[in-house]
Amino acid sequence: MDQKVKRIGVLTSGGDAPGMNAAIRAVVRSALARGISCVGIRRGWNGLIGSDFIPMDTSSVSHIIDKGGTLLYTARSDEFRTVEGQNKALSTCKLLGLDAIVAIGGDGTFRGALELSRRAAELNYKLQVAGIPATIDNDIGCSHYTIGFDTACNTAIECIDKLRDTMQSHERCSVVEVMGRHAGYLALSVGISVGATAVLIPERELNFEQDIVDKIRRARLAGTTHYMVVVAEGAGSTTEISQRIHEEVGIDPRVTVLGHIQRGGSPSAKDRETASCMGYNAVQAIAEHRGNCVVATQDGRLTVMEMEEALKMKKTFHMERYQILESLINNNCGLV
Ligand code: F6P
Repeated sequence: MDQKVKRIGVLTSGGDAPGMNAAIRAVVRSALARGISCVGIRRGWNGLIGSDFIPMDTSSVSHIIDKGGTLLYTARSDEFRTVEGQNKALSTCKLLGLDAIVAIGGDGTFRGALELSRRAAELNYKLQVAGIPATIDNDIGCSHYTIGFDTACNTAIECIDKLRDTMQSHERCSVVEVMGRHAGYLALSVGISVGATAVLIPERELNFEQDIVDKIRRARLAGTTHYMVVVAEGAGSTTEISQRIHEEVGIDPRVTVLGHIQRGGSPSAKDRETASCMGYNAVQAIAEHRGNCVVATQDGRLTVMEMEEALKMKKTFHMERYQILESLINNNCGLV
């Protein structure tokens, strides 16, 4: 018979994402509602290695659901990749009497959590781990959606809508770099939402003539006088792309790198609600001893999947959405 879960640790790791605080809040409140105490581990896995933690009660997570960032701080931990680092982390877990850890972050965070749980099992210490997918990149294989993606899209869209005003006034071309690490989900969603002239993503090999030059020329013939090129940071250098547009189209683009602004801001309704439901489901899975898991979304529905299986999953990029983008560009100048 499994022992009742008495104490859960919660941490955020990797790049922060708007909505992480909502997830922390949901984990703490759901745990307390089940009579489970909660410990906030600060600065990701380094918090376990360096014993950097705080007790969490219901008021610890008041007034944070609308705040971007993470009140537990976050970090990437090289030491946690070492055996010594994991042993230090485990001794902290034992010291704190943790029965489980909820790790909010990307798949690298989940791998670390699984490794820790396995190392604990070798010492006959049952330490369940539950992952909550949170990254603005939306690039976690097991989940169709990751916390922070919607807010980051809205932030980028708001910035590009502002850019469009001045590009229109000066009849210019804007080349905008958005985040996404090695994925193009952010760039494609933002590109569709701002009506970009062209979108460059790592998942699609670049044909400069076809993907940029021809699109600008056709848009110009269709009467458009300003052009928006959205570039995923993993798809190439905006400086080089801008230079080639200058050389091959004869216009002088302006480059804007949105950068870390996409990681901040008050989380959107979607991110707040998703984070809250994921936090609740993570605690429920732990309390019901469902083993190491990831709370993911599949086709819009929350699902709790076995962590080892979740980490094997790959995400398929839906290229048909790229076709939708292309068919909506105002470049139907009558040329077949
Ligand atoms: O993974 C989220 C992310 O914002 C990526 O889109 C980006 O490439 C990376 O983090 C930036 O990492 P850092 O915050 O360490 O500069």
